[in-house]
Amino acid sequence: MTARLLSGPSTAAGAESLAGHRARLGDLPGRTDRAHLIGMIDAAGLLGRGGAGFPVGRKWASVAGRAKGDAVVLANGAEGEPLAHKDRVLMASRPHLVLDGLELAAEAVGARRTVLYVGSEHVDARIALERALAERAANRTSPLPRVPTMLVTPPVSYIAGEESAAVHFVNIGDPRPTTVPPRPYEKGVGGRPTLVQNVESLAHVALIARYGADWYREAGRAETCGTALVTVTGGARPGVLEIDLGTTVGELAEWAGVSASVGSPVLLGGYFGTIISGAEAWRQPLDPVLLRRAGAAFGAGVVAFLGDEACGVTTTARIMDYMAGSSAAQCGPCVFGLRAIADASARIATGQPRQDDLSRLRGWSQSITGRGACRMPDGTTALLASSLRVYDADWTSHQHHRRCAMRRGARVGA
Ligand SMILES: Cc1cc2nc3c(=O)[nH]c(=O)nc-3n(C[C@H](O)[C@H](O)[C@H](O)COP(=O)(O)O)c2cc1C
Ligand code: SF4
Repeated sequence: MTARLLSGPSTAAGAESLAGHRARLGDLPGRTDRAHLIGMIDAAGLLGRGGAGFPVGRKWASVAGRAKGDAVVLANGAEGEPLAHKDRVLMASRPHLVLDGLELAAEAVGARRTVLYVGSEHVDARIALERALAERAANRTSPLPRVPTMLVTPPVSYIAGEESAAVHFVNIGDPRPTTVPPRPYEKGVGGRPTLVQNVESLAHVALIARYGADWYREAGRAETCGTALVTVTGGARPGVLEIDLGTTVGELAEWAGVSASVGSPVLLGGYFGTIISGAEAWRQPLDPVLLRRAGAAFGAGVVAFLGDEACGVTTTARIMDYMAGSSAAQCGPCVFGLRAIADASARIATGQPRQDDLSRLRGWSQSITGRGACRMPDGTTALLASSLRVYDADWTSHQHHRRCAMRRGARVGA
């Protein structure tokens, strides 16, 4: 495993100081022209780490082109995904990498304001960033112009991290997505073109600016270059670690101390992700492009080993209930669709199915996709569809025999 973002002191030691950060990595390179920095990020091939995997350089170019020197950059550290911890670990242990990336983004897109958007439950992260901002104010050596930063803490919620919800919360204190277009890069915070970028994506930029695109591309073993933070659950050693993209699920299982039950399913990406069977999973490279091609998702970098003992139906029913409860309940697919899915899943899981529950779930897993204002319904139904596929025997047994084929309980709690 290559440590880049997490090289240096152990994350358990807490926030790295500005002095420690500078001693280890040096200052940011001097002022450089925007096109050069964006070109470097493009050449590195950096993909966003907030879930969708969009090319970072392309997004910066688009905001820079519209902003005419008055953009806003919002660093997204909401991390509402229940299984993910990587962003809070990064913010709490390497706050200056995130702030370096934020400064570089502001310079490259031409921003006069920046926002640190940090989930209110991530207390260590918030404290680390507040201290880091104070350290930088007292010891300014950055060659980049100073841009004011506002720290905003949205309420604990899955949906508050969606980019239009983040902009909406900063603008009027309402963490619900808005209808798009206009998208934040067109009209966002204060009506200005706004770059919304995940905090891990920004931290990678801080290293690319120092060491270059070729250096960035030296890591990575499959199609996508670089390293990524992942959150691993379900083994003897759960936690956050940095992997070379392309590391296989099997290798990660070994690291996490997952007993060698190669057949047990794995949830990749998080509650918006996909469940894949162990037989497929173990050889699967954790690479956003290859995963997409395989019909799965890297998402928020979650790798949850579900184990043989977990009931896939009960696990899925809990996730569906969480997602239905987390939606902003303002579009039809969420208000009616996700609640209906959660209720039918719960009935099947608890041995009280209606006659047509399973066939309706199969229909909903296809028909609700693409109909909400945000991707909440799509992400949820993609997970449902993968569960119906991988745990087909369990769903059928619950529906027709009113019990779990294996008498198992849930693994992933919401
Ligand atoms: C329901 C929902 C929740 C999201 N939550 C987060 C989040 O907590 N953090 C995050 O960085 N991106 C989140 N996203 C993705 C953001 O909308 C946006 O794409 C991302 O912050 C852009 O950064 P990136 O390009 O660096 O990935 C979420 C998306 C959806 C649909
Ligand atoms: S699709 Fe759901 S979560 Fe997204 S905006 Fe509509 S109601 Fe809200």
